[in-house]
Amino acid sequence: MDNCLPTSRPFAAATAVLVLAVLASFWPPEAQGHNITEILEKLPEYGVYNSYMSLTKIADEVNSRRTITCLVLPNSAMSAVAANRSLATTKNALRLLVLLDYFDPQKLHDLPAGTTLTTTLYQTTGVAVGKQGFVNITNVRGGRVVFSSAATGGGSKPISEYTKSIRQIPYNISVLEISAPIVFPGLLDGSPVSGNSINLTAVLETAGCRTFASLIAASGTIETFQAAMEKGLTIFAPKDEAFKAEGIPNLSSLSRSDLVTLLQYHAVPSYAPEESLKAAVDRPVVTMAAGSSGKYNLTVSVQGEDVTLHSGRDSSRIAGTVLDDTPVCILTIENILLPVELFGETPALSPAPEKEKSPSPSPSPSTTAPAPSTVSAKAPSSLALSPPGTAPESAPAVSPETAAGKADDNTPSGVPKVVPFSWLAAIVASSWALLC
Ligand SMILES: *[C@@H]1O[C@H](CO)[C@@H](O)[C@H](O)[C@H]1NC(C)=O
Ligand SMILES: *[C@@H]1O[C@H](CO)[C@@H](O)[C@H](O)[C@H]1NC(C)=O
Ligand SMILES: *[C@@H]1O[C@H](CO)[C@@H](O)[C@H](O)[C@H]1NC(C)=O
Ligand SMILES: *[C@@H]1O[C@H](CO)[C@@H](O)[C@H](O)[C@H]1NC(C)=O
Ligand SMILES: *[C@@H]1O[C@H](CO)[C@@H](O)[C@H](O)[C@H]1NC(C)=O
Ligand SMILES: *[C@@H]1O[C@H](CO)[C@@H](O)[C@H](O)[C@H]1NC(C)=O
Ligand SMILES: *[C@@H]1O[C@H](CO)[C@@H](O)[C@H](O)[C@H]1NC(C)=O
Repeated sequence: MDNCLPTSRPFAAATAVLVLAVLASFWPPEAQGHNITEILEKLPEYGVYNSYMSLTKIADEVNSRRTITCLVLPNSAMSAVAANRSLATTKNALRLLVLLDYFDPQKLHDLPAGTTLTTTLYQTTGVAVGKQGFVNITNVRGGRVVFSSAATGGGSKPISEYTKSIRQIPYNISVLEISAPIVFPGLLDGSPVSGNSINLTAVLETAGCRTFASLIAASGTIETFQAAMEKGLTIFAPKDEAFKAEGIPNLSSLSRSDLVTLLQYHAVPSYAPEESLKAAVDRPVVTMAAGSSGKYNLTVSVQGEDVTLHSGRDSSRIAGTVLDDTPVCILTIENILLPVELFGETPALSPAPEKEKSPSPSPSPSTTAPAPSTVSAKAPSSLALSPPGTAPESAPAVSPETAAGKADDNTPSGVPKVVPFSWLAAIVASSWALLC
């Protein structure tokens, strides 16, 4: 019995909070119920906190969630947190100050049993170990309310105390001032990695995206990506399995410029972590790929915690976050995203390889599966911009206007644009071999 109690009680508590966290994750995100940036905008004493909330994009996530509490640090305390720290570390510190429940001053002072554990945004990152994602709120003597990391057993220093209320929108958002950050050992020790020291190849390989890593290196696309890293870059890296999927076009038969376009389609020239992509539903995500019809876009849909990217031809769920180091973000995806502009809007139905060799110039609507309605509507217009002969499937390798459209972008000059990139087959094949 003595053995049982110390372990079972924390376990029950952890289970309870986990259940709550899971329930919270199914709570549908609300559109524009509140705007933390706006709430704090006219209060210069929180200007530093407010600017870091925007810079790290945590503001997007706060705005997309309902029933949330922001614990705000005054300027001096916030400056001390951010000073000499990477944005990624500062972001983690801020995540621990966002509680996924509504606590107004009354609720803080009337906690049942005088104490509770609550889930924070840090818990949703998947990097939280043990109870690191939870905050302990305790009523102490004298009517004071103290916050501490659940991972420290309530003993963290400096003591983070509720100091005053800033704003409440009942049951939607509560904004409270606290005296000091809530920390657990290691939270503020993040490596001071800066965008320029990230080795994209190494990060992608470790994340199970070897094929994608070899393709961007072999095609020179990696240089475009590296150049963008200083200002902001998000990569949607397909996992190696995606290149083995049935029905994907034969990448080795793409011209180099089309391959570059396809790879650039998997990146956005800005910092767009998963939580801010959620806020991009209903507005196009402009990728780094471009052609004669302008920038190629993706659209986003959200279901529960799942974020899915749609090309208009196919779609892919975001599988995970490999690197979130503002302003660089690397996410893995399950499928290759095929831009309508290169491959047409019709999904390849037959998984048989001979489909790829089919000279059929039409997207054969008779056999189409239901296409995603939001995107199929705009596909015809972009296709209409292309002269006849640029049929999907067979044409990209010899399509002069798509090549010309991209020439002013990032295609290295002097590269033959219509020569099939056949040796890529060897790269892809060797990557697969490494996997097996
Ligand atoms: C809370 O948010 C919901 C959804 O955004 C909104 O309909 C409601 O009016 C908000 N409540 C208040 C008090 O603003
Ligand atoms: C939130 O408010 C800020 C400042 O007023 C504004 O710039 C921003 O566009 C708003 N965000 C949304 C999603 O409305
Ligand atoms: C940040 O680093 C600079 C230079 O290393 C140092 O002078 C400064 O005191 C540091 N600031 C804080 C708050 O640690
Ligand atoms: C919060 O921390 C205090 C102080 O360590 C502890 O007494 C209390 O049980 C904790 N609350 C919860 C819900 O774990
Ligand atoms: C990046 O990582 C790859 C694979 O781990 C390695 O081959 C390459 O030399 C590294 N590049 C740099 C510049 O360190
Ligand atoms: C892919 O294309 C290359 C070059 O055009 C060709 O050699 C190879 O056989 C094709 N692979 C498949 C599976 O069709
Ligand atoms: C992509 O989105 C941008 C911004 O909304 C728009 O200007 C552009 O026309 C879109 N491109 C295509 C090909 O739809």
